[in-house]
Amino acid sequence: MDSTLAAELERIAVLVAEEAGRLIEDERPADLGVAQTKSSATDVVTVMDQRAQDLLRERLMGLRPDDAFFGEEDGGEVGTSGLTWVVDPIDGTVNYLYGIPAYAVSVAAVLGDPSVPGEWEPVAGAVCNPRSRETWHAHRGGGAWRTQGETSTPVHASAADDLGTALVGTGFGYRAERRAWQVAALTHVLPRVRDIRRMGSAALDLCAVAEGRLDGYYERGLNPWDMAAGVIIVEEAGGVVTGLDGTPSDDMVIASGSRLAAPLARLVRAAAETAGSEPT
Ligand code: IPD
Repeated sequence: MDSTLAAELERIAVLVAEEAGRLIEDERPADLGVAQTKSSATDVVTVMDQRAQDLLRERLMGLRPDDAFFGEEDGGEVGTSGLTWVVDPIDGTVNYLYGIPAYAVSVAAVLGDPSVPGEWEPVAGAVCNPRSRETWHAHRGGGAWRTQGETSTPVHASAADDLGTALVGTGFGYRAERRAWQVAALTHVLPRVRDIRRMGSAALDLCAVAEGRLDGYYERGLNPWDMAAGVIIVEEAGGVVTGLDGTPSDDMVIASGSRLAAPLARLVRAAAETAGSEPT
């Protein structure tokens, strides 16, 4: 892809991710996690998720009417340009519910079919944490950046090569059977690394890898909208994103700096073997 177009897609991703970030931040009811019953609080989160996605769709389709749109919530659009905007309006919804400042809007421009693992590739993306006011962003060939206020800083993945001293992020899905499998895999990983972090937003975990705040990250069960922007940000930061068979997918996403990529992939494959097959 032409680098001017890729840079323009990155600019648009940042613009709309930050606008949706302001929406979920400014309109988050202050007592979301405490004053309401759990189920009604969850409904408010769903409403905010849908409102943020509607805003993203309206802005993106206004700016790029020929592109397709694919998000976590209801309401996709087909396109004719070959590009699809893959968005997660609130990644880290449980953190959002409880007011933990680790949630994000994730926006990526993707070539290919984002619903088929291995058949798509992000060309630009942005992840905005509206609480810390940090936005990580990248386009293919342009490096990875973190912008906070007026300051943009290039980010680089960790140079770590030793698993035993590596800080590794992971996450857990929502189904009990999936979680049981993830915990079985974790029992293989945890004794072999410095420590584990579970921060609650896959998009922010990937940005943490891009910046070296984590040496590595792995998770089973991610959707394209959780990872699309983070993948290009890690790769442009000099990191590697892979899966159990070489392709990141809902089966497994493994991300790290380049020197840790092979040992971490071996460890996660062994962990998956230890955990065995997952009950459906
Ligand atoms: C979730 C978060 C979480 C990860 C889960 C995701 P959501 O996304 O990214 O960190 O562990 O697998 O589903 O539901 O908050 O958009």
